[in-house]
Amino acid sequence: MKTKTKIWFVDAANPDRPYIQEAARIIKDGGLVAFPTETVYGLGADGLNGRAVAKIFAAKGRPIDNPLILHIANKKDAFYLAEAVSLKAQVLMDAFWPGPLTLVMQARRIVPPQVTAGLETVAVRMPKHGVALALIREAGVPLAAPSANRSGYPSPTTAQHVLEDLNGRIDAILDGGPAGLGLESTVLDVTESLPVILRPGGVTKEQLEEKIGPVRLDPALEDEKSIPRSPGMKYTHYSPNAEVILLEGSPEIIAAALRQVMEPFLRQGKRIGLLFVEEVWEKTGPLKAAYCKNLGSCLDLDKIASVIYGELRNCDAAGVDVVLTGTYEEKGLGLALMNRLLKSAGYNVIKSIK
Ligand code: TXA
Ligand code: MG
Repeated sequence: MKTKTKIWFVDAANPDRPYIQEAARIIKDGGLVAFPTETVYGLGADGLNGRAVAKIFAAKGRPIDNPLILHIANKKDAFYLAEAVSLKAQVLMDAFWPGPLTLVMQARRIVPPQVTAGLETVAVRMPKHGVALALIREAGVPLAAPSANRSGYPSPTTAQHVLEDLNGRIDAILDGGPAGLGLESTVLDVTESLPVILRPGGVTKEQLEEKIGPVRLDPALEDEKSIPRSPGMKYTHYSPNAEVILLEGSPEIIAAALRQVMEPFLRQGKRIGLLFVEEVWEKTGPLKAAYCKNLGSCLDLDKIASVIYGELRNCDAAGVDVVLTGTYEEKGLGLALMNRLLKSAGYNVIKSIK
């Protein structure tokens, strides 16, 4: 069934009350509203209403065994959704909420199985965005919200991306301008005494360890063949329609090899997209590609993270067949960035370019 998707422009710093009220009404009536967060845009439904939550899966084409995050506007609401909240979890809430950290904890019975995909745990986070917080408060319920993209595609960082993917499939979009970080929250399982990062994201491993001591990475993050504990991580993700190939090496090495790497694709008549840092472009000069983008300095991972999903989408819009892009050191935000790039490339990395 096709719905007319409404779009409301709202001021992120001081969200316009009437639009927030209308959006909250839709949520309370069991509908779907996309909204900005400090990571990416989310697609929200009443997180305590299983029927409303089920609509999220239909709108996105999301596999039903992939659980959702519940978004709250008050830290104390975490205790109403989760039980046996550990001391470490509480330290992390105090340190990083509101912010890009999702905690996986034992679920209380009030959480519907559509949210948890039948697991005994629930993922909870408090976003740091005026529009998201205003909407959750006005709706008076936690919002179940995955990223507001068509399943498998790069997450949306603007309302326009949401519209491209979900127009006619959701009730409304609150357009609060570009999302901030550009990569999703860190998902941390705190059900065990040694917490496990299931998905690296906006809060880095280093930042977590500074607060609670050692945390470990889900082995599936380091070995593409092992089975992830976070159901969502096993699916194709973050992938544009174009094939993505990562080139490993310093900007100097990539710049020197790029023409040669492009050669066979050009010979096959493929349209190439090039997403590289400034330090690569400085050394190559103009190249024969259908789409070229300077991602900024290789030292500015925040900037690269904030534009990467949009640039993968731009490559599709330009009709690109093959995207060539670089790799980053898996430290700090680089761990999350590389996790997304490796997945969008289906682990296709050219390692020994010379
Ligand atoms: O930044 C974000 O986290 C964004 C914004 C909208 O908040 N949301 C987001 O949601 O990225 P989604 O659904 O695209 O990703 C949620 C991830 C999935 O990998 C899912 O499998 C995992 O969290 N997850 C959710 N509940 C879980 C649970 N109980 N146990 C393990 N993993 C869980
Ligand atoms: Mg997602």
